[in-house]
Amino acid sequence: MEKKPLLTVKNLKQHFPIKGGFLGRTVNHVKAVDDISFTIYEGETVSIVGESGCGKSTTGRAILRLDEPTSGEVYFQGENVLTLSNRKMRKLRKEMQIIFQDPYASLNPRQTVKQILEEALAIQKVVRKKERNDRVLDLLEKVGIAAYQADRYPHEFSGGQRQRIGIARALSVDPKLIICDEAVSALDVSIQAQVLNLLKSLQKEFKLTYLFISHDLGVVRHISDRIIVMYLGKIVETGDKHSIFENPQHPYTKALLSAIPVPDPERKKERIILKGDVPSPINPPSGCRFHTRCPFATDLCKTKEPVLTTEDHMKESHQAACHYINDFAGKIPAHN
Ligand SMILES: Nc1ncnc2c1ncn2[C@@H]1O[C@H](COP(=O)(O)OP(=O)(O)OP(=O)(O)O)[C@@H](O)[C@H]1O
Ligand SMILES: [Mg+2]
Repeated sequence: MEKKPLLTVKNLKQHFPIKGGFLGRTVNHVKAVDDISFTIYEGETVSIVGESGCGKSTTGRAILRLDEPTSGEVYFQGENVLTLSNRKMRKLRKEMQIIFQDPYASLNPRQTVKQILEEALAIQKVVRKKERNDRVLDLLEKVGIAAYQADRYPHEFSGGQRQRIGIARALSVDPKLIICDEAVSALDVSIQAQVLNLLKSLQKEFKLTYLFISHDLGVVRHISDRIIVMYLGKIVETGDKHSIFENPQHPYTKALLSAIPVPDPERKKERIILKGDVPSPINPPSGCRFHTRCPFATDLCKTKEPVLTTEDHMKESHQAACHYINDFAGKIPAHN
């Protein structure tokens, strides 16, 4: 079956100005997202992963124009989102929903769950007024909340249940794309699995496309078709899930993978421990941004920026930005 692109991001940059001095001039920029490009096809689940501060949420917010990006293009179903009028943009917001880590912050504490969902339906004019009640109960049932709980307030639910309500609200407007920004990060592992399973089954039923954002590769492993690894505002590696997990190329991806706990203590695991903290995105390191923390960095890495490439030993859809992927040739170099 021919894959149809749903979302295409081209050369997206988000440089936040830093004001300073007594005149409040822009003295510098936080290069939160620095020239990234990727495509998400209909029905896919793509995950963006990377450490805190690498620009994951900024990417999600820029796609939805919650913050206007500095430059680049974002196409949703062929239309450049960044040049749409406000009126058209409002319409499009229905098609692209976002779910955050803390649903409590985004649920009005003075409204019952039913009122919250009815309001979402009313704003987007999805169904007629007299059908709203049925639609709300139907949505709640889909996410595993019983009808008798519809008149409760957000604080009367557990974290997992609140996340289900957040999902119901996102679903209420019949979106095509849902961006899940750390949507399960705050939940217990067992509840995490339940919510991920719910999202997976809703995907089939409603033909949804997901962009998952997470700092934890382990969390997105089962749900993802493809993975994008970001470091300091750049994509350092991207590929289908199997390429990333079984044939990682970038030392940073390897480091992230080696941080996932292994259930079997007998299984030996090569570990790459990263030195130090993520450098500042205000003055990112020269050359390869990862060189200050990479155990394999050479002088070349300090001066020349690597570009995303696919070498012979990699799948066609798999790309990594490292000068030495051929030398590693898919093997994790011996390192303790
Ligand atoms: N509105 C803003 N103004 C200035 N800097 C910002 C703004 N929003 C984000 N940043 C900076 O941009 C960088 C990327 O932030 P972002 O929230 O995208 O990270 P993240 O990958 O989502 O991290 P986390 O895993 O902690 O959520 C950070 O250095 C952050 O401080
Ligand atoms: Mg974030």
